Amino acid sequence: MQSGKFKTFYLPLAAIAAIIAGLALSFAWAAGLLGHRTTTRTFLGDSLQHFEPGYRRAHGKGICFTGVFRSSGAAASLSKARFFSQQEFPVIGRFSIGAGDPHAADTSTTTVSMALLLTADDKSQWRMKLNNAPYFPTRNAEGFLAQRSAFEPDPATGQPDPVRVAAFFKEYPEARKAVEYKATASSPSSFAGAQYNVINAFVLLAADGKRQPVRWSMRPRTTLGSLSAGDRAKASRDFLFDDIKQRLAIAPLYWDLTLQLAEAGDPIDDPSQPWPEERKQVIAGTLAVTGVHDQAAGGCRDINFDPTLVPPGIELSNDPVLAARAGIYAHSYNARLREIGLGKATEAVGHGDSH
Ligand code: HEM
Repeated sequence: MQSGKFKTFYLPLAAIAAIIAGLALSFAWAAGLLGHRTTTRTFLGDSLQHFEPGYRRAHGKGICFTGVFRSSGAAASLSKARFFSQQEFPVIGRFSIGAGDPHAADTSTTTVSMALLLTADDKSQWRMKLNNAPYFPTRNAEGFLAQRSAFEPDPATGQPDPVRVAAFFKEYPEARKAVEYKATASSPSSFAGAQYNVINAFVLLAADGKRQPVRWSMRPRTTLGSLSAGDRAKASRDFLFDDIKQRLAIAPLYWDLTLQLAEAGDPIDDPSQPWPEERKQVIAGTLAVTGVHDQAAGGCRDINFDPTLVPPGIELSNDPVLAARAGIYAHSYNARLREIGLGKATEAVGHGDSH
């Protein structure tokens, strides 16, 4: 009798407790508090210096833009996403430089970037972040953190410790080419002439169920050289931002969305390995950037350009860096919007100054 009562009264309570614990775990996982926890927290807490409340934790200096994407129709057979068939749809985006400090000089980094949010007439969205770098240094996100810590200057010498650098290259030999590339990379002379690359692989899903792994780039129609050493020394602090405002005051700027199609055996889970140049390319459409607007007032400030938010017809690859980025970006986005909401952000990003 006692044991029957126990079963009918206490067992359901135990089941409810187990369900609640399970739900809590799954919410924690979805919020990035488990799984990628160490990576996400360490990146944001220790590795990425937070310069100023309200700004992005990386690529803090930026400017919003508006534009139009016109599909060529050439990729419609590869993916059922509306973006490859609808003729024209609006774009909101952001140009930024790779430095974390929102007030950094434009010559402080050779990385320039483009972020985009495309919206189709059926309300589906395609978000992306693109860099002028051709590939990621390491095969995983932990490698990115290991690289930052290996190259941290030793306080005694002001230089990276060669022993730690050697240990890093032993663990991540693929990073040599990115480090060498970076050491000799020239400064872009304008946002207008840069090619912006997605770096991680994605998978296009066609209406007939066929799947095609791809990477894509925004290829500029404007051809511009890089900055000479002499011009670089003379360049003003905001020269890239001044330049793009001046160019767009005269005419729109264009980039071709160029898909690179993987072949069997090309790695789709390793952003440090570019695919051979001769892979087939398809121009899926053209982006016209028509105007720029200061980031505090221009509508891009409150957007998380999370590249894992893809429309039906485009799927994520199993690239571990892509998966890690979703949590990192959500964390940075939530933190800066909270700072703005609580009035902790500085005037420039909270209200309406330029970049
Ligand atoms: C594990 C590696 C990475 C880390 C830790 C990282 C970290 C970050 C963070 C914290 C932000 C600020 C996000 C925000 O507040 O909205 C950011 C922005 C950005 N990241 Fe990454 N990132 C990584 C990999 C990449 C890769 C592979 C690309 C390649 C295209 C990339 C491109 C960008 C761009 C373009 C922005 C600026 C986006 C904007 O204008 O809103 N990142 N990154």
